[in-house]
Amino acid sequence: MLKKIAITAASVLALSGGAVHAAETAHIEDIAFSFEGPFGTYDEHQLQRGLQVFTEVCAACHGMKLVPIRSLSDEGGPHLPEDQVRAYAKNFSVIDKETGEEREAIATDNFPPNTGAGAPDLSLMAKARAGFHGPYGLGINQFFRGIGGPEYIHAILAGYSGEEKEEAGSTFYENHAFSTGWIKMPAPLSDDLVTYADGTPATVDQMAKDVSAFLMWAAEPKMMDRKRAGFVAVLFLGLLTVLLYLTNKRLWAPYKGKH
Ligand code: HEC
Repeated sequence: MLKKIAITAASVLALSGGAVHAAETAHIEDIAFSFEGPFGTYDEHQLQRGLQVFTEVCAACHGMKLVPIRSLSDEGGPHLPEDQVRAYAKNFSVIDKETGEEREAIATDNFPPNTGAGAPDLSLMAKARAGFHGPYGLGINQFFRGIGGPEYIHAILAGYSGEEKEEAGSTFYENHAFSTGWIKMPAPLSDDLVTYADGTPATVDQMAKDVSAFLMWAAEPKMMDRKRAGFVAVLFLGLLTVLLYLTNKRLWAPYKGKH
């Protein structure tokens, strides 16, 4: 039996070897985001800074079409006052579903799509990419450090070497976190590109962390509710286990043990 298990384990390791190689070309730094762990919560101020980076920088090329603008006032999210959200919506224009004409966005609209630059939509990006794999593609790293979507986005934004090349009429920029090593997105961030209202120094690293946290919230706005529900469920199941154990003891008491 033991021998069988050992052989199975060895072949799993050997077979997964190929996948690992491709996945682990880039080193992705683990970041201690506030929302990690069983009791982690989003940092409202960080999300607000991330929203600012998204609006002033990323939205020029990227859309976020699955995210309702009104959710910016949600508690547990950026939690902006509602009048501020109404004013913010005016930054965007959308195609009206009924008239088919372009108009100013209102809070009940979603962020608009943006495909002009050939950039992917960022609504779900933080959950569509993984930062951690291995060792040996077993996903154990993900178990301890999380899937690493926001870490991946941070690594992309901070991973430019400054080299670029022309190929088939497009410009590619060298990026150590991108799978092929060359990405079509020019480095979007540079120090002091935005001015944070709360006085946080706007380094590339800081802006990259803030916008990654914001995109994690965009992709999973109900994370805190989910964790809370999970915690209650675990507590409840624990209690149920104890009760069932005691019931079982009680039921079998006349037939078991020394009397
Ligand atoms: C000048 C336009 C432009 C700006 C500004 C821009 N991007 Fe991009 N982005 C692109 C393009 C084009 C791609 C597709 C790159 C490719 O597939 O080679 C892309 C791809 C990405 C990807 C996907 C990488 C992957 O794994 O496929 C992420 C994440 C991303 N951008 C995040 C951001 C963030 C965050 C910002 C704001 C800080 C930003 N981008 C600003 C044009 C832009």
